[in-house]
Amino acid sequence: MRLLGIETSCDETAAAVIDGHVASDGTPSGRILSNIVLSQKDHAAFGGVVPEIAARAHVMAIDSVIMTAMKQAAIEQADLEFTALDAIAVSSGPGLIGGLIVGLMGAKALALAHDLPFLGINHLEGHALTARLSDGLAYPYLLLLVSGGHSQILLVSGLGRYDRLGSTIDDALGEAFDKTAKLLGLGYPGGPAVERAALGGDADRFRFPMPLRGKMPPNFSFSGLKTAVRQQAGELLKSGHLSDQDVADLCASFQKTVAAIVEDRLIRAWELAMQRADLQAVLMGQPLPLVVAGGVAANMVLRTHLTQLADRLGTRIVTPPLNLCGDNGAMIAWAGLERFSAGESHDFSLAPRARWPLDMKAPTMIGHGRAGAKV
Ligand code: KG4
Ligand code: ZN
Repeated sequence: MRLLGIETSCDETAAAVIDGHVASDGTPSGRILSNIVLSQKDHAAFGGVVPEIAARAHVMAIDSVIMTAMKQAAIEQADLEFTALDAIAVSSGPGLIGGLIVGLMGAKALALAHDLPFLGINHLEGHALTARLSDGLAYPYLLLLVSGGHSQILLVSGLGRYDRLGSTIDDALGEAFDKTAKLLGLGYPGGPAVERAALGGDADRFRFPMPLRGKMPPNFSFSGLKTAVRQQAGELLKSGHLSDQDVADLCASFQKTVAAIVEDRLIRAWELAMQRADLQAVLMGQPLPLVVAGGVAANMVLRTHLTQLADRLGTRIVTPPLNLCGDNGAMIAWAGLERFSAGESHDFSLAPRARWPLDMKAPTMIGHGRAGAKV
């Protein structure tokens, strides 16, 4: 099957074409024919995503991003045209409503014009299933989903079968990176900036708090961490100015603390998962794979830490390639392919959803399917 996937839920205008299928035994296999991501630059001056600017920028870019994705796919598969697609998938939530409307309208118009099935996809499901596209991973797995608007640990047992084991009770992890970068004057998006600044830093110079450490359920709390960085920076400023080395040390210490927090929460989540008889019956002695997804999954310190953790737990970790960690159309196309293979499609009355949790049974929490980080 070939699908076009469109993503406009936050500050990336993205479109991709994939070719793949899910075998009758559930084994996934997919190939990316094109994956075009245009990251909006206009938010940098504001230190976060401004919804109105994002929506306008999506309107300006969406046509050319989709056409470029189609043209590139046609190089891979000669003469690929809209009519050769099996369906069109688009992020229909959660996210910023203005951006979601732009993507949805574009997808509906194309589906109508070319008489193609159309699917509205949960953006978080796109992240959650990326490892099936990138690595052909079978269900079940334990997923750490960390992005600008979300931080959750989910047990993924099948398509649409998500159990949230933990979630943030305040800031999302990407948001903590973005706010830390902003207060240190490092610009937006903050994650890559903090990671770069930390390269020359001493991760042991500062000790920051690790809220909820050892506690069950394995929830996250990151707002205190950002405050601790602010206070420490304030202390340093009292004795003069903040040197580049100070900033590097603050960033390195922040990242080290983040990695330790995530590791602690994942170990608790792993323990919870291991207690489930239904999961043990499916695993039949095989270890439960770990997966990390979302924009923050691009962080090398976190990836290295989690790879070592997986070793200690006696399992493997799937870390998607960097271009599939942040928002992209390929993950939406893949989730669409899985849903379409399961017989789903939507009619044109489908509306965008600002909030759309993956695990509908879990109680409402802040990082549980809400819109991306906003200023
Ligand atoms: O998944 P994503 O592209 O968009 C959302 O759905 O939110 O994630 C964006 C987030 C931003 O907060 C950004 O700072 C963070 O991911 N991020 C990183 C890195 N690259 C992006 N955080 C830490 N380290 C990185 N290398
Ligand atoms: Zn995302």
